[in-house]
Amino acid sequence: MKLNIFNAKLNPLKDEDVKTIVCIEYHPMVRKWLIDYADEGFEKGLEEYKRFFSELQNNDKVEVLVAKLDDRVVGFLALWHMDKDVKNTSSIGISVHPDYWGREIVTSLMKEAIKLAEEGGVKRLVIETLEENIAMRCVAEKLGFKLETVKKGKVFKDGAYHDEDVYSLQL
Ligand SMILES: CC(C)(COP(=O)(O)OP(=O)(O)OC[C@H]1O[C@@H](n2cnc3c(N)ncnc32)[C@H](O)[C@@H]1OP(=O)(O)O)[C@@H](O)C(=O)NCCC(=O)NCCS
Repeated sequence: MKLNIFNAKLNPLKDEDVKTIVCIEYHPMVRKWLIDYADEGFEKGLEEYKRFFSELQNNDKVEVLVAKLDDRVVGFLALWHMDKDVKNTSSIGISVHPDYWGREIVTSLMKEAIKLAEEGGVKRLVIETLEENIAMRCVAEKLGFKLETVKKGKVFKDGAYHDEDVYSLQL
């Protein structure tokens, strides 16, 4: 199987690809780890994502990388520009379908994101993750991100307060 990573601004997604992305975001094993996510029902979420992707080419706040194995979307990464708050900084959000965890897809997506950020003049990348998210923390550390801050009890989720780790990488 061949892994292909592409920029969704340069290669607009088909509706079925957007639907697969929403299925990944709504998968309970993925959702468990997300900090910011749409909490409306699937169909409403799908409409929002379709709108987001249809307007993506004109959206200068975000870049989206999509990973496909053969022709199936298996993961994606969003690079959010935070220039309004923190100059030359972008924040990374990433999800891989649980069926494809442990296959280095995350690492390939992250490496492409670092390249894209560097090409775009970004000086600092940030990952905000639940402290319990060992997989994300391992990936971040493996790629050279450093733990910058631990925000105690920052995230209220599933009935409890969780610590949030902020990792950063200087480019
Ligand atoms: C975060 C995510 C993209 C990582 O992708 P993945 O394919 O699961 O990553 P891997 O399986 O390569 O795991 C990364 C590392 O963490 C390690 N790891 C994963 N779970 C672990 C656990 N419970 N305990 C110890 N180590 C663990 C793996 O061994 C691996 O280390 P290695 O590269 O040295 O072998 C994926 O888990 C995901 O989509 N999660 C849900 C969404 C999410 O958390 N997004 C990030 C929000 S900030």
